[in-house]
Amino acid sequence: MSKNFYITTPIYYPSGKPHMGHAYSSIVADIFARFKRIEGSNVLFLTGTDEHGQKIQKEAQKKNKDPKIFCDELSEKFRSLTKILNLTNNDFIRTTEDRHFKAVNEIWNRLTKSGDIYLDKYSGWYSVSDEAYYDTDEIEEVNGKKISKISGSPVEWVEEESYFFKLSAWQKKLLEYYNSNKEFILPVSRKNEVIKFVEKGLKDLSISRTSFSWGIPVPNNSKHIIYVWLDALTNYLSALNFPDINNDKYKSFWPADVHIIGKDILRFHAIYWPAFLLAANLPLPKRVFGHGWILSDEKKMSKSLGNILDPLEIINKYGIDQLRYYLVKEVSLGNDGSISMENLKNCINNDLANNYGNLCQRVFSFIKKNCNNKIPFSKNLMKNDLNLINNIKKKIPELIKLIDKQNLNEYIKLVVSFSFEANKYFNDSEPWSFKKKDPDRMNAVLFTISEQIKNISILLNPIIPISTKKVLEAMNLNEKDISIDTIKKENVFDNTKELKMLDILFRKIDDDN
Ligand code: MSP
Repeated sequence: MSKNFYITTPIYYPSGKPHMGHAYSSIVADIFARFKRIEGSNVLFLTGTDEHGQKIQKEAQKKNKDPKIFCDELSEKFRSLTKILNLTNNDFIRTTEDRHFKAVNEIWNRLTKSGDIYLDKYSGWYSVSDEAYYDTDEIEEVNGKKISKISGSPVEWVEEESYFFKLSAWQKKLLEYYNSNKEFILPVSRKNEVIKFVEKGLKDLSISRTSFSWGIPVPNNSKHIIYVWLDALTNYLSALNFPDINNDKYKSFWPADVHIIGKDILRFHAIYWPAFLLAANLPLPKRVFGHGWILSDEKKMSKSLGNILDPLEIINKYGIDQLRYYLVKEVSLGNDGSISMENLKNCINNDLANNYGNLCQRVFSFIKKNCNNKIPFSKNLMKNDLNLINNIKKKIPELIKLIDKQNLNEYIKLVVSFSFEANKYFNDSEPWSFKKKDPDRMNAVLFTISEQIKNISILLNPIIPISTKKVLEAMNLNEKDISIDTIKKENVFDNTKELKMLDILFRKIDDDN
């Protein structure tokens, strides 16, 4: 039986058009989802939009639109982005859906039943753009404006009746959980941040607002709207048909294996979410992975700096595989990383065009010219041929471990090194010199290099699915051959079939384009 694996992206505020940060969270999650599938897991990959709250209500008002109509339009943009980014999400959840409404109501009722909710008055700072409460020591004044020290967003003073969640009561349990589940929060630097914050002591959390109406009303007191983060976090359960905890989806996929999020929303996922779940008496997710920020030319992307790199523009110009590869190769997943057009070009040229692309093209045209366009077979592999082939096979457990720890950069480094080695092997083995004097030796080299191309393509498939599929299809392999198991098998090629035509995989980019 295959193992189940549940992975999620944050659900996005449909308050503006999707940008590189959104694309990044989604592409990263998609790569893990794809890898787990080719490893043989039964994967559920969820993404969607976070549509309630004051921020969305205000944006809709600015546009003079009913919030639901506003969300319908913008949510569609995010849904179409999943296609453009070539995501393999199985579901797309919207928090304005009925299934979500039911799940949030159940969570609220569970928290009420457990005695974790009480009514009081909130007075303090609130940032609408972060939808977050801040303590006084988290606020500073810049140019006469109060902003959050953490996010830099403007804050406003709020005083209103509010329901509170007894977050303070869960401090000890949370610390115990972090301690006994050392990899619940990754990377480790983020875990340490969270632990430090929780150790300082937790205040009860305001979980309802009364000053606007766009959201899910508190059961039995519709004057109050449920805090948008309690609402949004519950999406991970709504997609499993919660509150029906006996249905197959819930039973197969909860607790989630990993929530992929950006570091700015770590507090919500690593503190509030597990506390809500503990109080609701539900199992906790196995991991929260907080990735860093994408910076543009070392600076945070912003409209005023004019340094926003639009994912759609890059995709239209260079291709989606190119963008996917670049983002995860050049940006270290746990840290902030700068991207620029200059680096993007270098990365496409060096890694994709000159290395992997060139390897495939060279080998295929050699086979076409010298072997009737069929991958040859030879029983007489030499030690260095076998070493090359076995090196990838031996590294499979290590590669799986890297992915399971979301160590995507080390994974790519290793796979790219296979590709460099394969190129070097092809040059050093000089198959052309054996054509006349020892055709079997030529065949052995071509068989070995074809094995490498196949295996590298499978390993790169989660990252650059379109190009690797073209390569594998050209070798007469099909969808079901794209699996880690195929790497372990001996000679999977049909030596009687001709290679299919392979167009240029990655066009080199020169300075003018
Ligand atoms: N709606 C909340 C998430 C709720 S999840 C239950 C939210 N939405 S968001 O649209 O503002 O951001 C979604 C994700 O995009 C976050 O993980 C955030 O970190 C990520 N990014 C937004 N800008 C980013 C960069 N410049 N770089 C990398 N990711 C950043 O927060």
